[in-house]
Order: sequence, then C-alpha cells, then structure tokens
Amino acid sequence: MSPKKRIMSGMRPTGKLHIGHYLGVLKNWVELQSEYDCYFAVADWHALTTKYDQTSELRQNVIDVVLDWLACGIDPNTSHIYVQSLVPQTAELHIYLSMITPQNWVERDPTLKDMVKAMRGDDENKNVELSYGLLGYPVLQSADIMTFNADLVPVGIDQVAHIEITRDIVRRFHHIYKTNFFNEPVPKLTQIPMLKGIDGQKMGKSFNNDIKISDDENTTTKKILKGITDRNRIKRDDPGQTDNCEVIYPYYKIFADEATCAIVKEECESAKRGCADCKKQLAELVNEHFRPIRAKRTELENNMDYVHKIIKEGSERAAAQAQVTLDEVRKIVKMY
Ligand code: TRP
Ligand code: SF4
Repeated sequence: MSPKKRIMSGMRPTGKLHIGHYLGVLKNWVELQSEYDCYFAVADWHALTTKYDQTSELRQNVIDVVLDWLACGIDPNTSHIYVQSLVPQTAELHIYLSMITPQNWVERDPTLKDMVKAMRGDDENKNVELSYGLLGYPVLQSADIMTFNADLVPVGIDQVAHIEITRDIVRRFHHIYKTNFFNEPVPKLTQIPMLKGIDGQKMGKSFNNDIKISDDENTTTKKILKGITDRNRIKRDDPGQTDNCEVIYPYYKIFADEATCAIVKEECESAKRGCADCKKQLAELVNEHFRPIRAKRTELENNMDYVHKIIKEGSERAAAQAQVTLDEVRKIVKMY
C-alpha cells in the first residue's frame, strides 16, 4: 500500500464562516480527508499581512474558524487541524524561501495586486501602506505548503497564482541547492457552486449579504426573506420566471431535490406560488440542511476545553511533522 498523498490548505481567520465557505470549500475538504493525509491551517500570520493593526478579534476569529470546520465535519483525528503561528517551523522555512525568491515574482502576483486593490476600496488613489510582509504573502503561503511537502493544494481559482509561485520556488530551491527534496504541489481546483449573497452580489462578510453557518434559524429565515427574486415580477398575480429569479431559485437548485425544483418552477411560472411563500419554503430547506451542523457547533461551543485541546494537539502534531522537513532543509541549505 502506497502512503496517502498529502494535502495542505488553509484559510485566513476573518471571522465566522458563511454557507458559501461550506459549499465551496469545507464540503470538499471533508470529502478529501479519507483519501488524503490532510493539513488544514488557520493562517493567522496571513491575517496579519493586511490587518496587523486590528488584532483584537484575531484570537476569537481563529476559534470561530476551527468551530466551523469541526461542525462541518473536518475530523481532527483523521486530518491535522492547526494554527499557523503554532508551527514556527513555517516561519523558518519562509526565511529560506524569501532569500531565493526574486523580488519581481512577488511583485507581479495578480492575486496580491487584487488584494491591494481591495484595500484601496473605491478610491484608486488611496495610499495604502504596502508592507514587506504583505509582499511576502505568496512566499509565506509557499512555506505553508512546503512545510508539509504537500502534493495537492485544494483552493479556489483566485489562489492559483500563489500556487504557481510555490511551484516556481520549489524548482528554484532545487536548482540552487542541487536537490530534489520537495514535491511540486499541484492546485486542486474545486468546482465551486457560486453561491450568491442574498442581494445577488458575491457572498461576503464585508458586503453584509451572507448567511453564516452559525446563524440561528430565525436569522437565516429573515435573511432569506430579503433575497432577490425575479425583479420583473411586481404583483402576486404576475407569473414569474425562474431563470430571472436572481437568488431564491438558484438556492433551490442547491438545497432542494430536482422534483421540488420542478414544482417551484411550474408554480412560479403559472403564478400559483407567491415569492413570500417560496422564500419561506426555501428557508425551511436551508435550515434543515444546516440543523445537524449547527447543533454540532453549539455542542462544541459548550465544550471549549475540548476545542482548545484539538487546536493544541493538532498544532503539536503538525509542528512535529514540520520539524522533520526543517531538519532536512537546514542540512540542504547548510545551516549550522
Ligand atoms: N491565502 C489563502 C486564502 O486567502 C489561505 C492560505 C494560507 C492557504 N495558507 C495557505 C491556502 C496554504 C492554501 C495553502 O484563501
Ligand atoms: Fe423566485 Fe420563487 Fe418568486 Fe419564482 S416564486 S420568482 S422562484 S422567489
């Protein structure tokens, strides 16, 4: 039996995760964890690259991310759940990688350019302080991946540019130090069913249009009742068009079976169903879907000693594995 291939991925701790994170990323991680040896990092150093001056909620955000992961089914006995900053070996590897990474590789990273744009917001001329650490973002991410010598990195399309840099860094490391030590990690793209926010825009915390995994059922229902429908359907008697229904019908496509979708379509387009009732039925389906996950999260919240223990032990196991890599890297680079 060949050993399992290794997966490494991570998330920045930006707060409680929304149901888009669940459908787009976490469900995928849960499915991968039986087949692969998985390392999942809460990337708190990466959070500092842009929010170094806003750390008051960082610790709670780390905990919330871990709670969401566990509630959604990441198994701490099968996978390694860890906090990036509790694996200082990654910081050491980051130093070595930062020495060999040409400056222009990081300067032209398109994902980084987008991050800077996002920091500027609407004001293109706004002068944002671009820190040395932010410029090193893809190098730090490479260090995450290379610390565990991962084969595969499950990420969304926006992260692929970073992984390309990782592959370049691996090749450069091999070339400079005449070694073959690292894997060239491959991005594993997830077919992300794009879940829109309730206002029809991209779902995101900063847009105030998201439904959290941890929202209670009332909150979820209230949010869904605000969801955009077919904008041309003004009166209850107007027949609707599910193809023009911006948010509610696409959610049915994700949370309801085909038979239900067919009924919704028929009743909508013959004006037999009104949008308010349609939303209420959807809210019930979404709440049903997340009921076991939310129950598990509540159970974990009432058992924080256990959660802290998982974070601590997962990070210790990850650090022990990381040290194996770093011992070898120190030899290769010829450090004392
Ligand atoms: N940069 C990733 C994001 O913003 C998070 C991340 C940090 C990551 N380290 C990683 C992803 C290592 C994959 C591998 O989503
Ligand atoms: Fe959308 Fe349902 Fe209204 Fe039709 S009835 S437009 S599917 S919310």
